[in-house]
Amino acid sequence: MIKCRNLCVDYQHDKNKSTSALNNLSFDIGDSEFIGMIGPNGSGKSTLAFCIAGLQSVTSGTIEIDGGDINKLIKTREIRDMIGVVFQNPDDQLLTNMVEREVAFALENRSVRRDDMVKRVNEIIDRFQIADLKGQSPNQLSGGQKQKLAIASVMIANPKYLILDEPTSFLDIPDRRMILKQLKVEFQARACEGFSILLITQFPREAAVCSRLIVLDKGQVAADDTPEKIFTERQALLNSIGVEIPVEYQIKKAVPGIQLPAYIFDYSTNNTA
Ligand SMILES: Nc1ncnc2c1ncn2[C@@H]1O[C@H](COP(=O)(O)OP(=O)(O)OP(=O)(O)O)[C@@H](O)[C@H]1O
Ligand SMILES: [Mg+2]
Repeated sequence: MIKCRNLCVDYQHDKNKSTSALNNLSFDIGDSEFIGMIGPNGSGKSTLAFCIAGLQSVTSGTIEIDGGDINKLIKTREIRDMIGVVFQNPDDQLLTNMVEREVAFALENRSVRRDDMVKRVNEIIDRFQIADLKGQSPNQLSGGQKQKLAIASVMIANPKYLILDEPTSFLDIPDRRMILKQLKVEFQARACEGFSILLITQFPREAAVCSRLIVLDKGQVAADDTPEKIFTERQALLNSIGVEIPVEYQIKKAVPGIQLPAYIFDYSTNNTA
């Protein structure tokens, strides 16, 4: 479990000006959870992701990961094995000139035996359906393929927690669905080990595939519930902070008792049958 307590992050611009990005924020990421996070621009989502990944220090408050203080885990570099992070732009994290090497990269500094490394690389590129691209350069890939590669390169190290900050922003709709579907597959495959995902997205419909949804506003948790409850019962909140309500939930509210087919609520499927 990741426990965030009373997190404050103030970015100091100069002597007289600072921005409060997180404002006494507390929340937990439990084991085996697929959590979505939405919120208006500037609400602190990326700052929170950076803090949990140990890439941004907090002004005050505490973060514990599986009972260990984050500062200690950063010092011992154990955090690297616990948390995988994927950002909006895969180009920011693809480092090598070949797909296969990119996937292997995370294992190279972890004293994994060569035959084990080959086995794990082959297994993950199959799982992410990028095996046929393995000899290519990452910069020859499409946006969706690059993002799949970025996620595979993180997942190969078996992190206990996967934090994704708007991983589908640059993708078209079919690629966004594909990434979401893959995340669901990964979650289902590893949830029994306690694996959890935090998916920050600017697309509320995507967040509806998660089992829990957190709404951030002004550096605080404004709502924390199932997507179904938030999108139907917290519409006033979402309207007031300018977060779009998925149209299927608007219809559900406007036409009480209407029966909509289940696939409409699952963005990861393009099944329109
Ligand atoms: N490095 C920085 N220096 C100064 N201020 C920053 C820095 N990073 C973020 N901020 C400010 O902190 C606040 C929260 O930013 P953050 O990027 O965490 O929000 P966000 O919810 O991820 O927004 P978006 O939806 O646009 O990605 C904003 O007011 C932003 O301007
Ligand atoms: Mg952001």
